[in-house]
Amino acid sequence: MTHPPTVTASAPAKLMLYGEHAVVYGAPCIVTAADLRVRASVTLRDDDRVIIRAPLLPEPFAARADDILRGADAPPGARFVVAALRACWRTATPCGLELRTQADFSHSYGLGSSSAVTVATVKALSAATGRVLDARQLFRLSYDAVLEAQEGIGSGYDVAAAVFGGTLYYVTPGDVIEPLPLGELPLVIGYSGVKASTTEWVQRAAGLRERHPALVQHIWRLMQELVDEARAALARRDWPACGRLMDINHGLLSAIGVSTARLDALIHAARAAGAHGAKLSGAGGGDCMIALADEGRHAAVAAALDGSGLPGACVVAVRTGAEGARIEA
Ligand code: MEV
Repeated sequence: MTHPPTVTASAPAKLMLYGEHAVVYGAPCIVTAADLRVRASVTLRDDDRVIIRAPLLPEPFAARADDILRGADAPPGARFVVAALRACWRTATPCGLELRTQADFSHSYGLGSSSAVTVATVKALSAATGRVLDARQLFRLSYDAVLEAQEGIGSGYDVAAAVFGGTLYYVTPGDVIEPLPLGELPLVIGYSGVKASTTEWVQRAAGLRERHPALVQHIWRLMQELVDEARAALARRDWPACGRLMDINHGLLSAIGVSTARLDALIHAARAAGAHGAKLSGAGGGDCMIALADEGRHAAVAAALDGSGLPGACVVAVRTGAEGARIEA
């Protein structure tokens, strides 16, 4: 008996370098793809059943393809892949399949596992069904899926990193996605030991913006200037300037209330150990921070983060500028 082939696609995690939160309101940001990947494997079935196995699902989730398209409820651990299937099937015929996802890293880190799994699923499913998508179409379908799964919240910068890889200058909703030819960046990454909810922290920033619109608008403007300066400093590989801009970026994020004592402790430890600068990376509330340091200071900065004494905090080994979504051999 012959089995239909399994198609596996993978997509990288992301690190927000500069411009989080402001990017939701139209300012640019700079994001890099990290060399930690999420894989989605699709095997087509000859009936109409969809069976999903994922690390966050205690047991496989099964449903009929048509029911998924019509909006059948999915458990939280399958929300993004189900939204990805729906996004694909709005313009293609639903079909039975088995889908298995795996990640190189914990979803707790906040490194974009949800957007990466969405992109990998769309890429694997389209390849399995013989549909040719260019990178722009892959971005569009995946971003639609992420917006559906996150109730309309999200700038899409993480989806762009997962699709295109490298380091990108990005403006919502993806009209500007410019690759920055930077090679690898000298970053050290620390996990705060706390998993944060992106939607919750985006909503908190939105709440502050409603109460103090003029002030927060100034902060978004500063963030826009900062991102443009950071772009130029990165291009010159001027690490001291890049570090200072990370410090300013972190100060602006503290001003809108999204940093925490843990993130601040790790950031100060990294600076004291010789980093040029450090900031939280992403929505805040927890997840990861990044520090920019000369190679010669990496061990000292990593030791300072590991020695923070914060329960659950750790260094995450990551290389930047990773390849975007691809079909695995
Ligand atoms: C979260 O990783 C980054 C935010 O800017 C939200 C977004 O851009 O979707 C806070």
